[in-house]
Amino acid sequence: MRKPIIAGNWKMHKTVAESLELVNALKPLVAGVTNVEIVVAPTFTALAFVSQVVGGSNIALAAQNMYWEDSGAFTGEISPLMLKDVGCEYVILGHSERRQYFGETNETVNHKVKAAHVHGLKPIVCVGERLEQREAGIAHDVIRDHIVHGLAGLTAAEMLESVIAYEPVWAIGTGKTATPDQAQDVHAFIRGLLTEIFSADVADQVRIQYGGSVKPENVSELMAQPDVDGGLVGGASLRADLFAQIVKH
Ligand code: PGA
Repeated sequence: MRKPIIAGNWKMHKTVAESLELVNALKPLVAGVTNVEIVVAPTFTALAFVSQVVGGSNIALAAQNMYWEDSGAFTGEISPLMLKDVGCEYVILGHSERRQYFGETNETVNHKVKAAHVHGLKPIVCVGERLEQREAGIAHDVIRDHIVHGLAGLTAAEMLESVIAYEPVWAIGTGKTATPDQAQDVHAFIRGLLTEIFSADVADQVRIQYGGSVKPENVSELMAQPDVDGGLVGGASLRADLFAQIVKH
């Protein structure tokens, strides 16, 4: 049985004070939840502070990105060691906004995914097609590329400690959610790829989140799909009440 995992990606939102307000509001709202793994991903500057609040609770901490080296002359970057140091268990890698605005490629994502595992951080690896790619009928090809190259060289054990997030780019922050059928189609395709690359047993255990305008109104029908094992939530994770409703759908 795959335990659902719902993660809030706060993106470039909230000061430290605002982050603390949000997580302090969220914590009691989800305190009793044991059937869903809950993750929040604040900005780098808020990680250490939020870590103090979620420590020992049922909320795990994630970063939104990292570099793959341990340390060195890489001005402006953050290493896996630093994320471990502040209590991160997860790190979001290859988000479409990083691919679009910051030159992230399948190759850099792959370096980062491997580095995460070296340090015992669990990557949430984002994949997903853009609108013109879906319209051109190449959504599966794009996702195959993201998966095959982004996860290249991972051991089965590392794959089992990874999460995949399918986020159709056209559904992110647009209010346009993929239909449950569209999500299920791609999730099943991804699970098939994992079967090819690793094994049916590995594919059966890896959790695949859906992301893109997830909200309280649509989370249940998405999560009801057999291959949808959670959500990566942007906008709606910035409000404790909405995120808690999504977690407790
Ligand atoms: P959204 O963002 O929920 O605001 O669409 C999702 C994401 O980019 O992770």
